[in-house]
Amino acid sequence: MWSFANPVAIEFGDGCFSRVGTHVAGRRYALVTYADPIFTALAARISALAGAPALIVDDVQPNPDLAALAPACARLAAQRIELIVALGGGSVIDTAKVLAASGGDFARVQRHLLEGAKAAPLPTPIPILAVPTTAGTGSEVTCWATVWDGAGGRKFSLADSRLYPERALVDPELTHAAPAGLTVSTGLDALSHALESIWNRNANPVSGQFAVAAAREILATLPALLRAPRDAALRRRMAQAALFAGIAFSNTKTALAHSISYAVTLRHGLAHGLACSFTLPQVMRSVIGADAACDARLREIFGGDLAAGASRLEAFLQEVGVSPRAADYGVTPAEWHAIIDAAIGGERGQNFIGRREAVFAAFALP
Ligand SMILES: NC(=O)c1ccc[n+]([C@@H]2O[C@H](COP(=O)([O-])OP(=O)(O)OC[C@H]3O[C@@H](n4cnc5c(N)ncnc54)[C@H](O)[C@@H]3O)[C@@H](O)[C@H]2O)c1
Ligand SMILES: [Fe+2]
Repeated sequence: MWSFANPVAIEFGDGCFSRVGTHVAGRRYALVTYADPIFTALAARISALAGAPALIVDDVQPNPDLAALAPACARLAAQRIELIVALGGGSVIDTAKVLAASGGDFARVQRHLLEGAKAAPLPTPIPILAVPTTAGTGSEVTCWATVWDGAGGRKFSLADSRLYPERALVDPELTHAAPAGLTVSTGLDALSHALESIWNRNANPVSGQFAVAAAREILATLPALLRAPRDAALRRRMAQAALFAGIAFSNTKTALAHSISYAVTLRHGLAHGLACSFTLPQVMRSVIGADAACDARLREIFGGDLAAGASRLEAFLQEVGVSPRAADYGVTPAEWHAIIDAAIGGERGQNFIGRREAVFAAFALP
């Protein structure tokens, strides 16, 4: 038995950004974005298309942190906002989810993050119109948000099935100006979502189809895109692949590579997309032979010889400039052992279908 559900209405294509006014549909809205000239200009276009927002939260920083979210939520209070338009990458869309769930009172979200199911249920969230500008996190089609606690060295996940955006407007043209480093890290995040949804206890035939399509496309497209960053067709392919990866993991959540990544980001500042992807070859090696359905999916991506496939994956990472070695990110061997050990038992690590001993062997750790 299996089931699959994703309620987000998706509109995809170059120029679909211009339909934002149709989807705001006269509602009193808040705009969430970054303080950056590119985004200030896009925000002005939204105002022209949809009318001026009742509130602008334009100070979103990468990796939304507890400390910054409380004042952002307070600004929402007493505003009677009917819709949140999230214009940006995962940090903006996740911030929008926190704002939507808070109803202006961040303490409610914080209790939920700290106490989980024991906390009082969140109020009905404000609907979200997600307009992603990275390809990407897939946050436009998931119902959770990553909340970082830099001071406490922790990462939380806000999860509620009512936090799926009402609609995702995926316009690949919005990614054209993304610099190479962002294109790589976000593209690899999407690849990680695809693979992590395959070696996952929650995998199902629908997530599997989307994951295979996404991974094949990212492997074929990302190096070419780095050579031709203004190529509209390649940007379209990456945007669609990231969306497909998002749909796949929206029903499975992530697994071991993501579980490992959080400590690397918190302690060493590595961008999420790099932190959750540089370990993929070793994680793949550790899972080969663990499950026939998983092997079959991986063969659809990498061909019949999965060990050779893991080496190809490693060569692919190196081709896009990413080292598969933890030491290159400042992680010491003792620290690495502790990180892997904790990650296997972590919330996302428990979704992974491989065995602990096989993981340590693949990472060449005692
Ligand atoms: N909710 C989910 O399902 C989910 C999934 C994966 C990752 N995440 C989270 O998403 C965050 C990472 O998001 P991200 O990788 O999309 O990046 P981001 O939103 O953190 O943005 C990184 C930087 O890129 C810039 N930027 C974004 N789009 C741009 C564009 N088109 N052109 C030029 N610059 C641009 C921003 O100004 C910012 O400085 C992390 O906090 C991660 O934990 C969430
Ligand atoms: Fe991710």
